Amino acid sequence: MTLVLQAHALGLATHQMGGFDRDAFRQAFSIPEDVQIIAMIAIGHHGDASQLDEALREREAAPRARRTLGETAFEGAWNKAFE
Ligand SMILES: Cc1cc2nc3c(=O)[nH]c(=O)nc-3n(C[C@H](O)[C@H](O)[C@H](O)COP(=O)(O)O)c2cc1C
Repeated sequence: MTLVLQAHALGLATHQMGGFDRDAFRQAFSIPEDVQIIAMIAIGHHGDASQLDEALREREAAPRARRTLGETAFEGAWNKAFE
């Protein structure tokens, strides 16, 4: 999270990913077996959305749907939504 926030502060874009081939990643970067690979984060400069194919362009321009704060943050007791 702090990496993502700092990248954003520097004007960079990030994309967290859990859906990747961990075995291929381990092999390509010689990651030792005692290191658990959980997620990766791509960091880069914002591109020109008009260069994307249609499906990705629509996804990029679509309004973002987020969980409500109360689904993630609780107040006073577990499962008591933060207002
Ligand atoms: C740990 C973690 C793993 C994620 N894995 C994927 C993934 O494999 N593929 C993907 O498209 N988005 C994945 N996401 C979601 C994206 O990184 C991103 O947050 C989401 O697409 C929302 O993008 P937006 O801020 O442009 O709406 C993951 C997010 C987190 C925090």
